[in-house]
Amino acid sequence: MTVAPAISRQVCAACGRVFSETDPRRQCECGGLLEVRHDHSSPTLTGAALRALFDARRGAPHGPFLSGVWRYREMVLPAAGDDVVTYPEGNTPLLRRPAVTAWVSAGRTDLLLKHEGHNPTGSFKDRGMTVGLTQARRVGATAVACASTGNTGAALGAYAALAGLPALAFVPKGHVALGKLMQLVAYGVRTLLVNGDFDACQELALASSDQLGVYILNSINPFRLEGQKTIVFELLQQLDWEPPDWIVVPAGNLGNTAAFGKALAEARDWGLITKLPRIAAVQAEGAAPFALSYREGFARRHRVEPHTVATAILTGHLLKDPESVIRYHQETEPAPPGANRPIEIEPRLADVERVLAKE
Ligand SMILES: Cc1ncc(COP(=O)(O)O)c(C=O)c1O
Ligand SMILES: [Zn+2]
Repeated sequence: MTVAPAISRQVCAACGRVFSETDPRRQCECGGLLEVRHDHSSPTLTGAALRALFDARRGAPHGPFLSGVWRYREMVLPAAGDDVVTYPEGNTPLLRRPAVTAWVSAGRTDLLLKHEGHNPTGSFKDRGMTVGLTQARRVGATAVACASTGNTGAALGAYAALAGLPALAFVPKGHVALGKLMQLVAYGVRTLLVNGDFDACQELALASSDQLGVYILNSINPFRLEGQKTIVFELLQQLDWEPPDWIVVPAGNLGNTAAFGKALAEARDWGLITKLPRIAAVQAEGAAPFALSYREGFARRHRVEPHTVATAILTGHLLKDPESVIRYHQETEPAPPGANRPIEIEPRLADVERVLAKE
């Protein structure tokens, strides 16, 4: 089946200015963050044709469609063609675990777990990095960098090694799981342990891009979000394109939360699905700038001194403007603005560990 090529461009989420798809700038002059948009003008590309195309690529014996990211390339980065930096990644299982379901809802909910730990470096970050490094190569980057609480740096290292590019990571000293740090070192990432928190690391990463011209691969990089969208495309496909009622996701810098909203809105616009699920973004009580802003109807952004044992979501300040998150929220939430009520859940990580250990 042939599909008309999509035209992609970058658009500033704040002022609407348009940049070419291969413009390497990390932000708009106005300070706004960039979003990737794909135009699809082919009248033959209906939802059913697109679903059939993606279904036919499942189980491809070789080539880019082995990847659970590049299988959806028309909606990710069509212009990259077959020239992609892939292990492959994705193709993660959607699991039913009775003990977890019983713990969450006494069995009243059909709960499915999308196990992103099956990705090559053990986290969902690989989906964004396969696109990020593919784009880095397309724009002629000579080195790549990120700030990381562990998983991003490991994924950066793995894909930079595959692309043959030097990588630099800033990590908060003492706040990164040792196993993750070992992955960074093993992949040859120049790893700087920063005497400061994750936010200080983000500032250093941005300075490295300004002063050294290094291509930045933090979640402000819009191409990473295009890769993260495929968690949603893949789970929709695993459910035969029948969306769930809710998708629950841990939220740090809101990369995934933003990517999920974008993926669902696009899946609806391109006719893959007709109903939009609601998204629940979960933050730790001690690192909840987004939950605080949500409570106030997004009237302002918060900066907090973050603390939580869940180091992967140890973020006190949002680098990513949650524009697309707010857009999705406004479209799917029945409550009027200002009526937001974050649901507070008791910190029961120890409980979760006990339940998972039973499986
Ligand atoms: C395991 C894990 N969960 C959640 C997050 C937070 O993701 P996001 O920054 O996309 O909200 C991260 C980010 O590092 C992570 O590694
Ligand atoms: Zn702008």
